[in-house]
Amino acid sequence: MDGMTGYTPLPPTIGDEPSPQRSSAVALVGAGPGDPELLTVKAQRLLDRADIVFHDELVSDAILALLGPEVERVPVGKVKGNHSWSQDRINRALVEAARSGKRAVRLKGGDPSVFARAGEEIEYLRRHGIEAELVPGVTAALGCAAAAGFPLTDRRYASTVMIVSGHVREGDPTPDWRRVAGPRRTIVVYMGLSNAHEIAEGLIEAGQDPNTPAALIANGTRAGQRVSTGTLAELGAIAARHAADDPALLVIGEVVRLSPEWAPQQPQWTAAW
Ligand SMILES: C[S@@+](CC[C@H](N)C(=O)[O-])C[C@H]1O[C@@H](n2cnc3c(N)ncnc32)[C@H](O)[C@@H]1O
Repeated sequence: MDGMTGYTPLPPTIGDEPSPQRSSAVALVGAGPGDPELLTVKAQRLLDRADIVFHDELVSDAILALLGPEVERVPVGKVKGNHSWSQDRINRALVEAARSGKRAVRLKGGDPSVFARAGEEIEYLRRHGIEAELVPGVTAALGCAAAAGFPLTDRRYASTVMIVSGHVREGDPTPDWRRVAGPRRTIVVYMGLSNAHEIAEGLIEAGQDPNTPAALIANGTRAGQRVSTGTLAELGAIAARHAADDPALLVIGEVVRLSPEWAPQQPQWTAAW
């Protein structure tokens, strides 16, 4: 146990010998959902001082445009014509950058600790004697709900928020929707656009009322934002009208009633100044 940091080194993996000394630190920074005004002050400061930024495809162009011309940009996500880097390649590149004395930022869309493999990167860095600092960002659930004009909890409608992944890897079990469905809760599904029909069916079979309001928010807070609402039973059809490549979030729950999209007579929340 290291008395300074409380960090207990993990055992090495075969063929991947850790370094005994801690040399440097990498900042794992959340870029938020897309709107550069939703970057934290800390994220902005680290980006201003970075030598190299490894970013995934979810980081918006508007945020990348804030980087100075001298900053080395390394896209590690899927970009047109290129496959995304393997996690192992990213891990190694982060270690290499830190060891070469560069101020390295690993920039992730939303928050780095929500469906973003921060844990694997932190573990790898620490095993190689490099500290990782987590800098939170506005996760898509918060950014998209705000952009669509509804809160995630409301004492009249929902006292629980469930954040779930709608992406199921081949061979993995499908989520147990009975554990997710229920009254007085807001269900937020990340990576659920292509499975929206199955997700809605699963929730309805698990007892969720098919008339529960639902929203699909694509490109939340960024250029091309689209908000569509309907009932849970309609969610599959709503999803079919959206481009499969856009980042999109599904929100299911009574709070969606507060969206101007659901009830257009409600005032928009955009501040006038
Ligand atoms: C791999 S997860 C990463 C989540 C991210 N770390 C976060 O905290 O928001 C990617 C998924 O997040 C959701 N997402 C991220 N940004 C979004 C945005 N601006 N609008 C809608 N959905 C978004 C989508 O469901 C997308 O498929």
